[in-house]
Amino acid sequence: MKVVSVVGARPQLVKLAPIAAAFARTAHEHIIVHTGQHYDADLSDVFFSGLGIPDPDVHLGVGSGSHGIQTGAVLAAIDPVLDREKPDWVLVYGDTNSTLAGAVAAVKQHLPVAHLEAGLRSFNRRMPEEHNRVLTDHAADLLLAPTDEAMRHLAAEGLAARSALVGDVMVDVCLRIRDDVRADGHPAPALPEGIDPTQPYLLATLHRAENTDDPRRLADLVAALNDLPLPVALLAHPRLIARAREHGIKLDQGAVRVGRPLPYAGMVAAVLGAAGVVTDSGGLQKEAYLLHRPCTTLRPETEWVETLEGGWNHLVPDPHQLPEAAWAELATRPAPETPTGTPYGDGRAAERVVQTLEQQA
Ligand code: UD1
Repeated sequence: MKVVSVVGARPQLVKLAPIAAAFARTAHEHIIVHTGQHYDADLSDVFFSGLGIPDPDVHLGVGSGSHGIQTGAVLAAIDPVLDREKPDWVLVYGDTNSTLAGAVAAVKQHLPVAHLEAGLRSFNRRMPEEHNRVLTDHAADLLLAPTDEAMRHLAAEGLAARSALVGDVMVDVCLRIRDDVRADGHPAPALPEGIDPTQPYLLATLHRAENTDDPRRLADLVAALNDLPLPVALLAHPRLIARAREHGIKLDQGAVRVGRPLPYAGMVAAVLGAAGVVTDSGGLQKEAYLLHRPCTTLRPETEWVETLEGGWNHLVPDPHQLPEAAWAELATRPAPETPTGTPYGDGRAAERVVQTLEQQA
C-alpha cells in the first residue's frame, strides 16, 4: 500500500509523528508531503527533529497568504505530486488550509482520501478551521474519528457509513513524550526570561484568528493575561507577534513574559511544570487534560468537549472575566492526581489508522 500524508502546520506534525512511526513498522510506502504552510523553524523543523519524523519527501514551499491564496497555492502545487505518486490513500490531518487543499486535490484526481481527526465541530462558522473540517469530511472517503462525540457529529451529517472510530493519535505522542520527559528527570523547559520554573506559573498561548485579528479583542485579552494572579509564560506564535506589532499592543507587561514557541518535548515539560494552562489552542487543551493540568480556554466553545468534564477545562470567552475565572479555577481545580476518563483512547490510535487503511485499500 502506498500512502501520501499531507501536512503543513505545527499541529499536523505532532499527529504525523505516531503515524510515521506506525508506517515504519510495516512494509507500506509512506510519502510525506509538507505544504510549507508553516515555515519558521520553531513551528516546523524542530518537530521533525524532536519527534523523530523522517524528512519530508516533497516540500511545496507555499508559505503565508490569505485563506484563498494559501489554500489555492497548496492545491496547485500538490496536483503534480499526486498525479506522479498515484497513492492508494491520501491522508490529510486536522483542520488547516493544507488539510482542505490536500483533500480537494485528491478528490479531483479520483484518489481515495482519508481524514484523520474527522468529525470535530465547534459549530462556529466564523472559524476558518470549521470550514476546513466540514468541507474535508464531506469530501473524504474515509473518516478517522478520534472520539465518540466526533462519530456522533459525522452520523448527524449522514456520514456514518464512511466513519471509523480509531482514537486520538495525540494521546499516542503525548504520553510517549511525557514518559521520556519523566525518565529524563523533568529537564527545565526553555521558558521565557523572567519565569522561574521552580515557582508556580501559568503557561499561555494565543493564536486563533478570532482572538488575534480584532485589535480591540486582542488588547482586552492581553490586558487580562497581564492581570493574572501568577507569572504567565506566553509562548508567542508568529501570528500573535505580528498582529500585536501591527496594532501597537505591548505583550510583555504585567504578569506576562513572552517567549518563543517550544518544541514538543519542551511543551510537555512546560505543561507538567505549570500550575495551569490558558490557551485558545485545541491541541494544548487536550495536552493539559492528558497531563492533568487545569486549563482555561479563551473561546466560547471547544471541539474537545470531553475536557470540560470534571472541571479540567473552563471556557472563558469574555477576557474581562479571565483574571477572576483563573483565580477561581486555581482555587477549585482538580488535583493533578485526580483521574480523568479516557475519552481519547488508549494511545494506540496510529496502529488502528494503519490497519483501517489496509482493510479499506
Ligand atoms: C494554522 C491553522 C490553525 C492551527 C495553527 C497552528 C489554518 C486556517 N489555521 O493557523 O488551525 O491551529 O496553524 O499553529 O490553517 N506565520 C509565520 N511563520 C510561520 C507560519 C505562520 O510567521 O511559519 C505567520 C504569518 O504571518 C501568517 C500567520 O502567521 O500570515 C498565520 O499563519 P497561517 O498558517 O495562515 O495560520 P496559523 O495562524 O498558524
